[in-house]
Amino acid sequence: MTSNKKIMILPGDGVGPEVVDETKKVLDWFAKNQGLNFHIEEDLVGGAAYDKYGVPLKDETLADAVNADAVLFGSVGGPQYDNIDFEKKPERGLLKLRKEMDLFANLRPAIVFPALSNSSTLKPDVVSGLDILILRELTGGIYFAEPRGIENLDNGEKKGFDTNLYTTSEIERIGRVAFDLAELRNKKVTSVEKSNVMMSGVLWKEVMTNLHAVERNNVELTHMYADNCAMQLVRNPKQFDVIVTDNLFGDILSDCSAMLTGSLGMLPSASLGNKDEKTGKRHALYEPVHGSAPDIAGQGVVNPMAQILSLSMLFKYSFELNKESELINQAVSNTLDQGYRTKDILSSDGKIVGTKEITKNIIRNLDELSR
Ligand code: IPM
Ligand code: MG
Repeated sequence: MTSNKKIMILPGDGVGPEVVDETKKVLDWFAKNQGLNFHIEEDLVGGAAYDKYGVPLKDETLADAVNADAVLFGSVGGPQYDNIDFEKKPERGLLKLRKEMDLFANLRPAIVFPALSNSSTLKPDVVSGLDILILRELTGGIYFAEPRGIENLDNGEKKGFDTNLYTTSEIERIGRVAFDLAELRNKKVTSVEKSNVMMSGVLWKEVMTNLHAVERNNVELTHMYADNCAMQLVRNPKQFDVIVTDNLFGDILSDCSAMLTGSLGMLPSASLGNKDEKTGKRHALYEPVHGSAPDIAGQGVVNPMAQILSLSMLFKYSFELNKESELINQAVSNTLDQGYRTKDILSSDGKIVGTKEITKNIIRNLDELSR
C-alpha cells in the first residue's frame, strides 16, 4: 500500500551513519514481514557532503528531500569542521533543510520507558511514567532572523549580533499545532517565552492568549517564563503536557527534557510543515535529538534507539501507520525491559551491549510481538 512512497535517507556525520544503518534493518524487517515497501533514496549531508562536494547540502539533495514523502535524517557535525567558513558548516545543511522545507513544527517527545526510570539523573519518582511533548518553533526566531553578523566598530572592537523576531502568523501556526496535539493528549498547553524581558516574548504571549480565546478554549493554556520552565522541568516535569516555545528556548529546553528520560540517546523528533491543501502532502523530517557524538563515533557503542524511534514517528506522522509505529515503540520498550543497554543508559542490572546487538534484540522483539 505504501510502495509508491519515497523516503529520503540522509545519514550525515559522526554516529549518524551508524544509527541510520541500524534503522534500515528495521525498515527491512517491515518490508520482509509486513509487506511495507518504500522507495528509498540516500544522499550525503553535513560534513560528509562538504568533504565530497564542498557544500553541506547540494541543491539536488535539497530538491530530492522536498520531493520525498519523508526524510529520515541522522546527525551532522564534527570537530574537523570547526574552522571552516560559517556558511559551509555541517549544521548549515540541516538548517537549510528545515528552512527550505518550511518545517516549522518540531515535536520532541520526552517519554520515560518503565525500564529506564532509574537511568535518569533525577530521582525515579520524579520521572517515572513521564510523557511530555516539547513543541519547538523551528524556522523562525533567532536562528534565521536578520540582521545578524559580526561587524567592526570605530573603537577597534567588533560586535556580534543576532535578531529574535516572530510575526503574528508564525506564532499562530505553531500555536495551532500545540493545541491540536494537546487535544489528543492531556489537553494542557504551556506557552513558554520571556515576555518579562523580550518584545518578541510579549507578542508571543499576546498571540497565544488570543488564539486560545478565539479558537481553542477547550484546551487549558498557561504561560511560563523560559527560565522558570527550565527549573520546573527538573523540579516537577510531570506537571507538563505540551510545552510550546520558540526556536532557541526549544533547543535548550528539549536537551533538558531529553536528559529526564535517562539519555539523549533515547529521544526521537519530528519536524513537520503544513499540509498542502491540494495534495494532502506534508513535508517532514525525522531525526534523533542527539547530535553526531564524534567522541564515540565508529566504535559500535552508540545507542540506535533515538534513530529507530524517529522511524516510528515517521510511520505515524507521515504515513498514518499507527500500528506499525506502536510496534516499534513496544519492541524498544521490551528490549529495555529485557535489560539490554548501551553505555549511555546503563543501570546496575543491565547487560551492556553494542549498537548492533541492540538492533538485533529490537528485531527479535518485533518478531515475537508480531507472531
Ligand atoms: C538540535 C541541534 C541543532 C539546533 C544544531 C545541530 C544546529 O542542536 O536540533 O537541537 O541547534 O537546532
Ligand atoms: Mg539542540
